[in-house]
Amino acid sequence: MNITGNTVLVAGGSSGIGRGIAETLHDRGNRVIVAGRRSGQMAEMARLRPGLSWLELDVTDPASVSRMARQLSEEFPQTNVVFANAGVSRTEDLTGTGWTAEAAQAVVETNILGVIRLIGALIPLLAAQDHATLVATGSALAFVPRADFPSYCASKAFLHSWLLSLRHQLRGHKIEVLELSPPYVQTSLTGEAQASDPRAMPLAGYVAAVMEKLEAGDHPNGEILLDVDLPRRHAERDGRFAEVFARLNPA
Ligand SMILES: NC(=O)c1ccc[n+]([C@@H]2O[C@H](COP(=O)([O-])OP(=O)(O)OC[C@H]3O[C@@H](n4cnc5c(N)ncnc54)[C@H](OP(=O)(O)O)[C@@H]3O)[C@@H](O)[C@H]2O)c1
Repeated sequence: MNITGNTVLVAGGSSGIGRGIAETLHDRGNRVIVAGRRSGQMAEMARLRPGLSWLELDVTDPASVSRMARQLSEEFPQTNVVFANAGVSRTEDLTGTGWTAEAAQAVVETNILGVIRLIGALIPLLAAQDHATLVATGSALAFVPRADFPSYCASKAFLHSWLLSLRHQLRGHKIEVLELSPPYVQTSLTGEAQASDPRAMPLAGYVAAVMEKLEAGDHPNGEILLDVDLPRRHAERDGRFAEVFARLNPA
């Protein structure tokens, strides 16, 4: 993908990985629109980077998704790159007395239905461009789960499969479909502690690595993965699933 001169929507661009990608693409000469629920956060981003725009979006609300898609088509009809990056994560103790299916609901609503809803609403706009790119954020945990995040990991495994079908269905269109599978990165996804967890990859380094891969077209089979995650990605193929699972989930 050419990483300059595009009009880019970053859905889930108000913080973390999405914000890093949005700001970097803005600085590299793209017209960037971020979308999310926290308008104060996005207004501050726009204040710091004149020319950056923002739209309100709650992917769990069908009306909000339709409204945002309409606004985007009217105000930025040239949008040719979309990052579907919105996501939530939480631990769940399925053996705990306090667990109910509602604990999984926000994850399913956001990471599964929300992403489907958003991408579905934006395909017509992308299909109208000469060339377009859709990047959806999954996770390296899609390939081998961390058992304390059962619904989260399953939602990303769902996304992996869904994107395979989407890519196949869009093969006759000029829409490139990419799956971004981050490792553990310093953001506030699971709470403030993650943002400074020394075991997580620094955000700036991850965003720089993603930009390099996008620019170089280094995404075999449409998958953007760091080398460190390849053993996890191919654990099943390499006959090492149980070993990798055990390393991620100590007894
Ligand atoms: N950090 C990691 O270790 C890691 C690893 C693998 C995958 N990921 C994935 O990377 C993506 C970004 O996460 P992050 O780590 O950067 O965490 P983050 O800072 O919490 O970012 C999550 C983004 O999703 C948006 N979002 C959440 N619910 C939304 C909703 N209902 N409607 C619209 N936007 C919504 C948030 O914006 P608002 O709150 O403003 O709506 C925010 O911009 C997620 O899909 C996550 O699963 C992260």
